Amino acid sequence: MELTSSTFDRTVVLASADAALRQRLHHRLTGMRWKVREARGGAEAFAYLEDQPTEALLLDHWLPDLEVGEFAEQIGVMYPGVDLLRVDGDPIMGGTKSPRRNELLHALRESMNGFEPANLEHSAKGIGARAKPQESMERKHEPLNEPQPVVTPVSAGRVSRIDGLIGESAAMIELARVIRLVAPRKATVLIEGETGTGKEVVANALHRLSARSSKPFVVLNCAAIPEALLEAELFGHTRGAFTGAVQSRTGRIEAAHGGTLFLDEIGEMPLALQAKMLRFLESGELQRVGDNETLKVDVRVLAATHQPLERRANEGSFRLDLYHRLAVFPIEIPPLRERTEDLAVLCEHILTALGKTSPRKTLSAMALDKLATHDWPGNVRELAHVLERASILAEDSPSIHAEDIRLRRAVRD
Ligand SMILES: Nc1ncnc2c1ncn2[C@@H]1O[C@H](COP(=O)(O)OP(=O)(O)OP(=O)(O)O)[C@@H](O)[C@H]1O
Ligand SMILES: [Mg+2]
Repeated sequence: MELTSSTFDRTVVLASADAALRQRLHHRLTGMRWKVREARGGAEAFAYLEDQPTEALLLDHWLPDLEVGEFAEQIGVMYPGVDLLRVDGDPIMGGTKSPRRNELLHALRESMNGFEPANLEHSAKGIGARAKPQESMERKHEPLNEPQPVVTPVSAGRVSRIDGLIGESAAMIELARVIRLVAPRKATVLIEGETGTGKEVVANALHRLSARSSKPFVVLNCAAIPEALLEAELFGHTRGAFTGAVQSRTGRIEAAHGGTLFLDEIGEMPLALQAKMLRFLESGELQRVGDNETLKVDVRVLAATHQPLERRANEGSFRLDLYHRLAVFPIEIPPLRERTEDLAVLCEHILTALGKTSPRKTLSAMALDKLATHDWPGNVRELAHVLERASILAEDSPSIHAEDIRLRRAVRD
């Protein structure tokens, strides 16, 4: 019998990094006339749920990109009509009971028979972070995408860190949480923060933690390109579109198709171009400079600024409508002086990186105290430079002392 798509009106999303498990469940559920969408991680599952009505979500105990407990909670809030089940058949709080739950449970039981779900023991302790699958387990996780894995475990709690984003202050933990929640969505994110606070680090993480991670991540620094060329750079141009356009060229928006476009220093974008950008954001369509043909492009846009963009928008030097369109989801990175608790871990991270080219140095307690008195106008970037200088000044000593720390501006008090 030919199965038509209407045969498959019952959709279930199956989120697991374990290909063998997915295959078994897929087979079983398809046999029961379910339409199964396999997701290798939380971001992909999010994308499927957003894409079409789903009756149930089957969740493994571990996902490579998102913390499972938090992910389930978020799904419960965003998709209250979806039945949430663990792959071993446990219902998860927050979901609605599907009228066909028993059918699903039956399929799960059959497929999981004599089978140990990943990290069951681990998650029973309430820790949703990654654990090495034990040798006796026949489960194998396949990599989600390169580079993997992006979420590293912590010893306890529901906090999972984000690769490359160091910080243990409450503000940074909250930042990591928010990044993991918004990364899988298509929402435009405006990243705000002083120079050197890690806006590019955050933009990178948002891309890596999304289902777009295997697609291009295209960066355009609006401050680095002359105004006259910025439009062609963004939208592309045809041959002869303007003086000097000897060849046609693909714009950065088009180049990011399927992936993410990061507009750095968005505050520097000229007003006229802001209008064009807004049109693109609203329609998903663009025209190359000198071309009448309209192209449809699928791009997720991230923007960053160190300027008080809302104030500028209210003053009229930045388009208010574009500001609102960009700031669908604003993320503000606090300056380093407001989270001095992060200094020690940041120093560790930076000294480890410096230790790759010369012997790894430690930081004396006095040196750390001295760092804590500075107000860090250049934030983490400035800290990296200060430590690099200090390592050189410390010469052969294995430890950096307070006198090796040279701060450019006067310390407070
Ligand atoms: N939380 C962090 N953890 C680890 N490294 C960080 C963090 N924040 C910033 N850095 C490092 O500090 C440097 C500056 O970060 P980044 O380029 O992302 O800052 P920025 O906010 O984009 O600054 P600018 O406004 O000057 O462009 C980079 O080397 C980055 O890796
Ligand atoms: Mg930057």
